[in-house]
Amino acid sequence: MITNDLILPSIYHLQRTGAAGAIHVCALNTPPLAELKDNAEIREAFPGQDFKAHPDLKEAPDRDFPDLYKDVIASMPERQAVVVAMPDPLHYSVVMEALRADQHVLCVKPLVLTHEHAEEIRKEAYDRGLFVGVEYHKRLDRRSLLARRQYRQGHFGEFVMGEAKMIEPYFYRSSNFQNWFTCENTDPFVYVGCHYVDLVYFITGLKPVEVSVVGVKGRFPNGNEGYMWANGRVRFENGAVLSVTDGLGYPDEGAGSNEQCLQMFCEGDGRNGMIKTNDQFRGLTHSYLDGLGPGGTAFNFVSPDFYKLVPWHGEGYMPVGYGYDSIAAILGAIRRIEAETAGLGKAEALARRQEMIVETDRQGLLATPANSSINELVVEAARMSILEDGRPAVISYGDNPAVALR
Ligand SMILES: NC(=O)c1ccc[n+]([C@@H]2O[C@H](COP(=O)([O-])OP(=O)(O)OC[C@H]3O[C@@H](n4cnc5c(N)ncnc54)[C@H](O)[C@@H]3O)[C@@H](O)[C@H]2O)c1
Repeated sequence: MITNDLILPSIYHLQRTGAAGAIHVCALNTPPLAELKDNAEIREAFPGQDFKAHPDLKEAPDRDFPDLYKDVIASMPERQAVVVAMPDPLHYSVVMEALRADQHVLCVKPLVLTHEHAEEIRKEAYDRGLFVGVEYHKRLDRRSLLARRQYRQGHFGEFVMGEAKMIEPYFYRSSNFQNWFTCENTDPFVYVGCHYVDLVYFITGLKPVEVSVVGVKGRFPNGNEGYMWANGRVRFENGAVLSVTDGLGYPDEGAGSNEQCLQMFCEGDGRNGMIKTNDQFRGLTHSYLDGLGPGGTAFNFVSPDFYKLVPWHGEGYMPVGYGYDSIAAILGAIRRIEAETAGLGKAEALARRQEMIVETDRQGLLATPANSSINELVVEAARMSILEDGRPAVISYGDNPAVALR
């Protein structure tokens, strides 16, 4: 879904502007690949552009190729980019496979499900001088960048109490989600709540220290049981509390396309500050003659801020928004690292690549395993907590960060 909705169109645009070369897309089986190739909007926006499908589309649609990605990665020249956009539980093995094959990585969030795995990835990537960017695109939303700058300039005071929501559409329940979004694998807090936990950390620099999540279970159309709803309470190192409500349940008939917002109250000296962002209704409403909107709706809140295809000076349409900016920035970081070290001796190039990786970690704009691993700790804590019906899980930092139920 994310490959169709954001990643492939973004990379097609980078390809036609000369920033990306050949594109190979590997899936478990052929149906999603056929859908990607047939997507009328993508074809119209990127005329003449194509990707090589793995497995080949001639294969039977019901035949699975769970290990084919290994061959595809192994066939790549070294230090290209592998984009990982598979179900969360597979990220760890695919990212490690890519790193061991000397490939840079762009991975959708969450990078992995445990801090130990994030640390292993950070170390493997650093040792080989490979960049791993985690696609937390909300960081690149201008609202977040502005909030980060002004929070850090002291214009709001200190974050003390906040509320966030991200409710994905009901129709997600009928998608491929029903095959993997089951209770033992994940939940709505881990799936999308992590965006806002990462954002509060991105804006304030405060680390989360305790997480408690409760969920409401339900059945997918295929009978699998999953958490359809979750509510998490995250306590930060300064005592601040963020409540996060998530679900697969925004009405398909709603103007949505989903529900998302963040409000942060901050304590100042004798007066208070606040950051409030409505990320669902961004001020633009369309009512279409036909049901063009998500879930087949006519009346829609449209966000030109995340990702949309718009006219440009070239053929077709171009992607705009922070979703595209985020993909372009991560792949741009990889290109810069390669351009700056091309022609250097092996040891010198490795040292310079490592310096550039550490600098990006320190800058903290693009999410990397080093600067976003609070998210793995939160995910770990959230999974422990939700499976224990909301028992708080405590995160301790220091040389060996760890999570334990209280
Ligand atoms: N806002 C965001 O940042 C955002 C939004 C949506 C999804 N995501 C993330 O993207 C990832 C994928 O989510 P989605 O909604 O696109 O899921 P999806 O189920 O629609 O797609 C997953 C894809 O992985 C492929 N796949 C599964 N096993 C494979 C294997 N062994 N080898 C090769 N391909 C394999 C499937 O063929 C499928 O095309 C998840 O980690 C999710 O958390 C992030």
